[in-house]
Amino acid sequence: MEAIVSLGLPLAQSCDGVTLCGFCRVRVLEGDENLTPQGDEEKKIQRSLGAGDDERLACCARIEGPVILTTSYW
Ligand code: FES
Repeated sequence: MEAIVSLGLPLAQSCDGVTLCGFCRVRVLEGDENLTPQGDEEKKIQRSLGAGDDERLACCARIEGPVILTTSYW
């Protein structure tokens, strides 16, 4: 989330990044292996949203290497 915002890109959210809203969902196009693994709270929200395996919550994922992400509104 911080990386996206620092690039000046818009990112939906309504919980200030505390893993409640699920609005920060992004699609991972490349580099999934360079994101930290999903925790239980992220998995719970992802299931409730019906999110795909290629989606992550930006407030939960930490970047550890090159990644390419997108959203439906970029
Ligand atoms: S900002 Fe609310 S779940 Fe990520």
